[in-house]
This record gives sequence, structure tokens and C-alpha cells, in this order.
Amino acid sequence: MSELDKQAIEILNKNDRGGYTVPTARLYPYQWNWDSAFVALGFCAFDRQRAWQELAFLLEGQWHNGMIPSIIFRSDDPDYFPGPSVWQTQSACATPPSIPSTGISQPPVLASIVLSMVKAGNESDLQNAAALFDGILNWHRWYQSKRLSPVSGTVVTVHPWETGRDNCPDWELGLSTMQVDPQLEAYERQDTKHVNPQQRPSKLQYDKYLSMVKFGRERAWEHELITANGPFVMADPGIHFILLRANKDLLELAGLLERTDVVTEIEAFIQQGIDTTNYFWNESVGAFTARNVVNGEYSHGVTSASALCFYAGAGTEAQWQRTVENLDRIAGRVQYMLPSWDPDADDFDPQRYWCGPVWPQMNYLLSIGLEEQGQSLLADRIRQDMSRLIQRSGFWECFNPISGEGCIGTDFSWTAAIWLAWASPSKQEMAA
Ligand code: GLC
Repeated sequence: MSELDKQAIEILNKNDRGGYTVPTARLYPYQWNWDSAFVALGFCAFDRQRAWQELAFLLEGQWHNGMIPSIIFRSDDPDYFPGPSVWQTQSACATPPSIPSTGISQPPVLASIVLSMVKAGNESDLQNAAALFDGILNWHRWYQSKRLSPVSGTVVTVHPWETGRDNCPDWELGLSTMQVDPQLEAYERQDTKHVNPQQRPSKLQYDKYLSMVKFGRERAWEHELITANGPFVMADPGIHFILLRANKDLLELAGLLERTDVVTEIEAFIQQGIDTTNYFWNESVGAFTARNVVNGEYSHGVTSASALCFYAGAGTEAQWQRTVENLDRIAGRVQYMLPSWDPDADDFDPQRYWCGPVWPQMNYLLSIGLEEQGQSLLADRIRQDMSRLIQRSGFWECFNPISGEGCIGTDFSWTAAIWLAWASPSKQEMAA
């Protein structure tokens, strides 16, 4: 075991709050949805039971309507804003969730991670997966109904924080067609006290993020209403491709668990995802991009989510070819692949939250997809670059794609987990 392997284990243990793991102390003091799924992969390297426990804790936060929220508030930590008193799920919802949480979700990577844990495991892993199966299926049902837009025909998102790519320039489209709620209460941010404000979202963006929360709260967190009439409704290729892949993986899991009763239903979800993939195709950019559902407008740059088409196995040969050309172009602009936003766009910023930095969990998903679809060179480069970044700078939240410096949070759980599960050279030797 290398020194970095040991450090990664220490980080996961240090961020463990007794059954669930915080992404990093202080800046993110709660359990986050997709972070926990990646964290489970990391725990698998040294404690499989603890890995399953992480996921069981995540499912404890599931809502009655099936949604698994983006953040579960098991306490009220003054270090974090906006916390439970802003989301008000317990007082606003007709049927409140058992644990306070946000009123939005996050990218549904869970089914895919559970499947990979089962494939690498034994009979007891299969039993653990069986215990989670219905919860995960209910979450997919929620996405496929409560987040289905009659306008685009796709699954959509109603808040940039739901996409997990919180401050990507993609969301400027949806932010530009909405107003700050004139009745928005005064508030005090905490994030800019913990990290460099230059790397965090602006005040106007934050006002709009909180206006969306206010809208949801005032509609008792009735998700169908928010999807139909919310101030911000966008289609995200990240959620679309991750959900499509997760549905395929859930179907495989159903097969392993002999759940023939749900096969037809999951097959229909997959077909719906395949049929609507073209909505995201942006001919002028030559990639799948986000769109503002309100007016149909497309985003103007290639993101790391664009390249998840390979991971979902969705799109035509010609679309994949143009996406690869874009990835080759980007590879010529940066030292470390794959930046979260197009380095040729005006608003590219290599240090700013989702406007440029490389994110470990995205590289993991991207590399899997590219490898599966025969793009081994790009898949290897993305994996090697992640490995080099961590060796150069340590376990940061994300990294500058040009200089390799770490950005925002330190001692970060998903970076440690991705290292242990996939980026560590010792892991790569084992996989070879
Ligand atoms: C940031 C990221 C989001 C992540 C969270 C916790 O908000 O944008 O994807 O889940 O931090 O790490």
C-alpha cells in the first residue's frame, strides 16, 4: 500500500460521522447524495460493510414520493448555508420526510455504483443490493415522472444544485430568464468564509439560487408543480446520461436479483432516455449540451457532462465522432483532462467552481464510458491525468486543468474514494 493509499483511507475515516461521510469538514458538513455513492466505492477498498452502511444511511433520507435528496440534514450546522431552516421540508411538506433535507435531488449514480459493488463482490453483496433495490427503483420512478417535462419530453432539473455541476456556465441560460424574488429574505452566506470567494458563485447567482428554493418551499415541495412552473427549468445532459446508464444498470441488477416483475417498467425508462437523447444534441457546438426548456436555447460550450454520452451508450456514430473531435481539441488546450467547461469559451476559468476545474468523480464516469466504447486512448489519458493530479497536489475537491493546483475543499472524500477505487497506480496494476 502506498503512502497516498494510506492518506486516502485516513481521509475517509476522518470524514466518517458514524455511518455516513461528509464530503469535507466545515465547508460541507452533511451527507451529500452522489458523494456518498462514490464514497461507498472507496470504502469497498478496505471495509465492504462500511460501504453498504453508507448507502443504507443515504436511503434513510428518501422521501415518500421516491426522491433521494441532495443533502440530508441530520443536524443543524451553523457552518453551512442554506441549511434546514431555509429548505423547511418538515414544515412545508404535506408528508414531511423522516429526516430534514433539501427539496431537490442530485445525479442518480447510485444504481450503477451498487451494480459495480455487486459485480466485484460475493453473495453477501448481492443481499445488500437486494435490500436497496426498491428504494433505488422508486427514486428512478420519481425522476421519470416528477421531473419529466411535457415541454421537452426529457427529464429536467429545477435547480443548478440538483445537477451536481452547481456553478457551470450552462446554467446562465436558465438564470438569465428568471428574476430574483423581490420578497427574498436577507441572508448570510457561509461558503465564502471557508474558501476563496473568487472560486465560489457570485451574489446575484446566489440570490437566484435562493429564489428557486423559496419557490419550492412555497409550493410545499410538490415536485410536479415545480417541474411544470418553476422559475428555472433546464435539461442537463449530465442527469440525462447518468440516469440512462443507471436505468440500464438497474435492469442488470434486476436480472441478478431475479426481479422479473419490474423488467418491463425499467425497459420503458431506458427507451424513454434513448428516444429523447437527441434533444440535447447541439449541432453548432458538435456535442450534447444543456438547454433552457423555457425557450429551447442551447448552451455554448462542451462540458464534462457532454462526454457522458459514451457512459450512457447513447447517440449516433456521427455524434460520437464529433464529440471525440471536441475532446481532442480540448486535450490540446490543457495539461489535465477533462475540464468541466470549454477552455475555448470566454467564461472559462480554471480555478472557479465548475467553470473549468477537473472533477475526480466526473473523470471516473467518463473514463468508464470512453473505455467501453472503444476510445481507450482518451479513457487512459483521463485516468492517468486524475492520478497525476492527486499525486501532484493531494486530495482536493477539484483541480486546475492547466496548472494542476488543487481548488476549493481539501481532504475531500470523493477524491480519496476515487483514488482508492480507480486512480491509484496500485489499483491500475490490479486492473491490468
Ligand atoms: C458541490 C458540488 C456538488 C457536490 C457537493 C458536495 O456543491 O458542486 O456536486 O455534491 O459540493 O461535495
